[in-house]
Amino acid sequence: MSTAISSAIPDVVPTADASPSETPAQPNAILGTYKRPAPLFVRGEGVRLFDDTGKSYLDMVAGIAVVSLGHGDPGVARVIQDALATGLIHTSNLYRTAPGERLAAWLVQHSFASKVFFCNSGAEANEAAFKFARRWARAQGHEEKSGIVSLRGAFHGRLPGTLAATDRPSYRQPFRPLMPGVQIVERDLDDLRAALDPETVAAVIVEPIQGEGGVRVLEPSFLRALRELTHERDILLILDEIQCGLGRTGHLFAYEGVGVVPDMVTIAKPMANGLPMGAVLVNEPVAGAMQPGDHGTTFGGGPLVASVAEHVVQRLAEPSLLEHVREMGCWLHGELTALMQRTGKIRAIRGMGFMWGIDTHEPAAAIIGRAFDSGLLLVSAGEHTLRLLPPLIMSQDELREALGLLEAALQGE
Ligand SMILES: Cc1ncc(COP(=O)(O)O)c(C=O)c1O
Repeated sequence: MSTAISSAIPDVVPTADASPSETPAQPNAILGTYKRPAPLFVRGEGVRLFDDTGKSYLDMVAGIAVVSLGHGDPGVARVIQDALATGLIHTSNLYRTAPGERLAAWLVQHSFASKVFFCNSGAEANEAAFKFARRWARAQGHEEKSGIVSLRGAFHGRLPGTLAATDRPSYRQPFRPLMPGVQIVERDLDDLRAALDPETVAAVIVEPIQGEGGVRVLEPSFLRALRELTHERDILLILDEIQCGLGRTGHLFAYEGVGVVPDMVTIAKPMANGLPMGAVLVNEPVAGAMQPGDHGTTFGGGPLVASVAEHVVQRLAEPSLLEHVREMGCWLHGELTALMQRTGKIRAIRGMGFMWGIDTHEPAAAIIGRAFDSGLLLVSAGEHTLRLLPPLIMSQDELREALGLLEAALQGE
């Protein structure tokens, strides 16, 4: 029997007792917040990882939507080397450094935003966005306007504020009390109309495609109506593009494909192709409410990570890459539909671009375990949902190879 990689959901996805290579996982000194299969990854190249026996694995996880340019990218390696050669890895945010300033200017130029705050992860970006929303409301004199609303199925992180906005009881229960003032509402406009009290709610946070919650693409018409509603009620709209942003939908930002202009966008995962990096993009009214001392971070936006991110975001914005993602997304839709009809093992598929959810009859963990054994990395998004998050550089031939291995895993081979 195989131990599946249970993604970021180790306590929800059932896992079996033994590793893919039938040997018990090595005991180690890392706190047991994840169950990992036994093989030790020692090398990466393009869309493949290699373990210490030389076995290769085709990577349809990309470090959970992080390594969008693939493993061992020469451009990323060169930028890291060039950045190291300056001797400036970190100076703190007490001082100016050029890479972060250039990166912020680029992000502002290529988005709705007027300012950017840098941090180190997705959850940190969302926590910061919640603080900015409250600061914005207070700056307008609304003392009681501190509420944050998120949606059914949402995942926004595992820190106290973001966990309060995350709709996973098993993640939340052991850590109560979470941040007060956060409400999870159905993905329904009538429910939102009832919940969005202009006197008490500062912001709504939404993933344009819910990732951990099962890869649910929110309808553009729903997002546009929500934008209108939040405008009418003077409530901020935060889009969490930590998983679906920076090219994964075939647009640099997912909101561009939806026709909605948010007040804040949070990004992280692929920003520096694997170095820890996050950001909050904010519009002028939010930026105007923030004063020196209102928020801070020791590491966020340091010169090394910012140099890498500057290179990565420019490559993720290349029209040919975005077109590849859109084209392959359409092709994947057709292939996955055919796979569903051919195998009878799939209940539904959802997604776009390089982000797909596959609902299966069998528990996802069992399929992920068999795929792992055959050299294919998959991740789940719920107990009966597989998630495909390939590096954006994955070619059609490599995707075809992955689908072949996926079919075999679905068939129990
Ligand atoms: C949509 C979304 N928001 C927030 C997060 C949290 O990011 P991090 O794990 O970097 O804290 C994730 C992580 O999976 C995510 O998918």
